[in-house]
Amino acid sequence: MIIGILKETQKGEKRVSIAPRIAKQLIDKGFDLIVEENAGEYSSFKNSDYKKAGARIEKRGVVFKEADVLIKINPFNEDDLKLVNKGQILIGQLYHKSFPDLIQKIAEQGASAFSMDAMPRISRAQDMDVLSSQSNLAGYKSVILGAYEMKKIFPLMMTAAGTIKPAKVLIYGVGVAGLQAIATAKRLGAIVKATDIRLETKEQAESLGAKFILVEGSNGESEDGYAKEASEDYAQRQKEAVNKSLFNADLVITTAGIPGKKSPLLITEEQVLQMKNGAVIIDLAAAQGGNCEISKLNKTVKRNGVKVIGTSIAPESVSTNASDLYAKNMYNFIMHLTENNQFKWDLEEQITDETLIVHNGIIRQPKSE
Ligand code: NAI
Repeated sequence: MIIGILKETQKGEKRVSIAPRIAKQLIDKGFDLIVEENAGEYSSFKNSDYKKAGARIEKRGVVFKEADVLIKINPFNEDDLKLVNKGQILIGQLYHKSFPDLIQKIAEQGASAFSMDAMPRISRAQDMDVLSSQSNLAGYKSVILGAYEMKKIFPLMMTAAGTIKPAKVLIYGVGVAGLQAIATAKRLGAIVKATDIRLETKEQAESLGAKFILVEGSNGESEDGYAKEASEDYAQRQKEAVNKSLFNADLVITTAGIPGKKSPLLITEEQVLQMKNGAVIIDLAAAQGGNCEISKLNKTVKRNGVKVIGTSIAPESVSTNASDLYAKNMYNFIMHLTENNQFKWDLEEQITDETLIVHNGIIRQPKSE
């Protein structure tokens, strides 16, 4: 079976879906690989790295023509879909609920498509979960970005010229990104506090050295282990519990999300106005609506001496690691779906069922109620 690795065309994207290290692992398993020319150039991977791994380098048209399986990170767009052939298998982050028209086009081409972002969040799917592997890097990078934007340093420093107090960092949302943000801010020497609607995160935050701000009535966990939407009452109690730390913070990182919903509003403009002069907010949820009322995606908004940076940064800005982790998730997924280098099409199996959005031209997800 021939796997084709396409170069990402989305503006600002620097990652590639398969890194040379993983290309080699797939080839060792008996797959043939064709890589689009310069697909890895923004992730520091050269064509020669892929060749050394045993892959073929080809022009875009050849990859579309010859591959049985086409792999990307971002959704297959209209230009891609013109080149897709009947029977081809597409794998990428399709965001099928957000882009039904593109899914319709895949179906019209008679192709099949798996979506990495539809991966069920169950233990055995953890090593295929691209949302986790990329969020983890986002958590790290948000702290680095914050440190760069702040006018203060993180650690306690005792010098002949006097003592510098450690920076105070506050993190909203202790999921994958939040936990990595805690760990990174701690390593840099900050005093870290964190809060989350799910009570079980208290222990996780504390194990990394953060002080957990407990909001009365924190039980916002649904049956599947993810956050539920907070009630207005909870949101009010959260403000009361967190405000003191928020108004004292040098850096605030917000990561709170509700699967499949707009991100919750956690910091109002009125709260921003009471924050310290020079404080920085990094809103990692900006692409899903934002956790801060005044944040704007890919923009820095200044209010009363506070910088609010709405960003979806991260994975692209550490594209070498992000590509490597995405590729490993993809490798595990391909291994899960195939046997003797052929797709098993085990449609009863949960991971296959939930990620297979289109099968031979038939749209199967989302299932009608
Ligand atoms: P996420 O990005 O959807 O949300 C981030 C955090 O924000 C969550 O911890 C959530 O509880 C919190 N949050 C939501 N609303 C809030 C509010 N109003 N106030 C304060 N906090 C709020 O979540 P993420 O990081 O994608 O994953 C969350 C959980 O899922 C974690 O426990 C993680 O370990 C688990 N997980 C499991 C996987 C698997 O088993 N395959 C894969 C990835 C994550």
